[in-house]
Amino acid sequence: MAMPIGGMAGLTMQGTPSLRLPGEHFAAAICFLFLGALGLIWVAPDLAAGLYLSPHVAGVTHCFTLGWLSMTIFGAVYQLLPVALGVSISSERAGHFSFWTFAPGVALFASGVAFSSADLRYVGIGLITIAIICLLINVGLSLRRVVKRDVIWAAVMTGISFLTVTLLLGALLAQNMQVGFLGDARIRVLTTHLHVAMLGWVLVMIMGISHRLLPMFLLAHTAGTQWTKRALAFIAPGVVVLGCGLATNHHIAGVSISWVGLILVEAGIVCFLRQAWLFFKARKRPRLDAGLRHAATALIFLGCAATLAPIVMLNGMGARRLDTSYVLLGLLGGLSLYVVGQFYKVVPFLAWMARFHDDMGKKRVPTVAQLYSARIAHIDLLLFVLGIVGMFAGVLTAMPSVVRGAACLFAGGVVLFASQVIRVAFGTSFGVATPAPSTPPARALG
Ligand code: HEM
Repeated sequence: MAMPIGGMAGLTMQGTPSLRLPGEHFAAAICFLFLGALGLIWVAPDLAAGLYLSPHVAGVTHCFTLGWLSMTIFGAVYQLLPVALGVSISSERAGHFSFWTFAPGVALFASGVAFSSADLRYVGIGLITIAIICLLINVGLSLRRVVKRDVIWAAVMTGISFLTVTLLLGALLAQNMQVGFLGDARIRVLTTHLHVAMLGWVLVMIMGISHRLLPMFLLAHTAGTQWTKRALAFIAPGVVVLGCGLATNHHIAGVSISWVGLILVEAGIVCFLRQAWLFFKARKRPRLDAGLRHAATALIFLGCAATLAPIVMLNGMGARRLDTSYVLLGLLGGLSLYVVGQFYKVVPFLAWMARFHDDMGKKRVPTVAQLYSARIAHIDLLLFVLGIVGMFAGVLTAMPSVVRGAACLFAGGVVLFASQVIRVAFGTSFGVATPAPSTPPARALG
């Protein structure tokens, strides 16, 4: 289905899989986001005490990291490979298989970690491993066919390589939960695992996908695009050096490797933020919609987490509440909120294509923007921001009631957001006026 319409229409084209494949990933991701939000309320006292080593916290963390972030990225990759790299996914059936092993795998693994059940953990990791291997082969075969190997190609290759390292380190940590063979090295391996996962896997994939999506969403095709390449050139080696430094605590000529890695990663984040800024600055429509406001806010949180990182490193691994609040800021404020913003752009468009595309020109159809309520989207953004800032402050000041109250606000944001996605997928349109049959397609997509 070729789409001759500009802007968002670039999200679908010949070779994109049926919407069922990304759709099932996005639906499961929302369920995990909801579970994670409830989990935050549950683990609030642990968070306030800086007990990030508690199994409860680790279980809840993976609802966000594997269930929400990784699941959404998988769905986005299936949808965007043809659009961004000009190749279709090698096997749609393998994509479904990967989904049906990954989703139960994450649920079993996260509950096995949270409730200290070794059996659930093992079955969960087994399923997750099968799903990730299947995805790696499927995406790897598609990437091999790409002719124009640009920065998006490099970002996806880098991201999936770091996902493999994440899985290996995660499996090591899970085995350690059973037999404790890592001893004192546990925290160092854990710190390496979470940085490789959050920066090397999630942030790099976000950078690659945003390189295509942000200019499309912002109608900012005149902006310079060289900063994503620079960001990747700093972050990819930076994560390797940082990971080695955190794992080994090694020094070369008196200089800590971790600091070298951190400086490289920070430089990469600055380049990524610069690229995003250029896209926002060059936008054709001055007024930002709700999705882009979520994304812009998340970029501010990402900048704050990056600013906090050197302070966290200076304090070493003993300042548990500072460490917890730093991960919370980066994971919920930077990465998770950014993905919520992208959801607000991508999912309504795909739902519109599935539900109304064939009716365009024949009967009245709503615009994409009318599929959800901008007012509710802005309220959920407010709840997310209050929740994240409140949890951050509550953890730093060791106040469990503040953390729990803020986690409730965050959960409120998730409920509103999820209700919007359900409405987009199944409900009627919002708004007073629906365009007449003669409305040009480009307006309906606006
Ligand atoms: C790919 C499969 C994964 C496995 C098997 C895995 C496994 C684990 C395990 C067992 C722990 C607990 C370690 C301990 O307390 O000793 C852990 C912690 C952690 N993991 Fe993963 N992980 C995976 C993926 C990810 C991803 C994709 C991310 C981030 C995007 C991530 C982020 C974290 C974080 C932030 C923690 C610390 C949680 C806490 O503070 O308690 N993990 N992981």
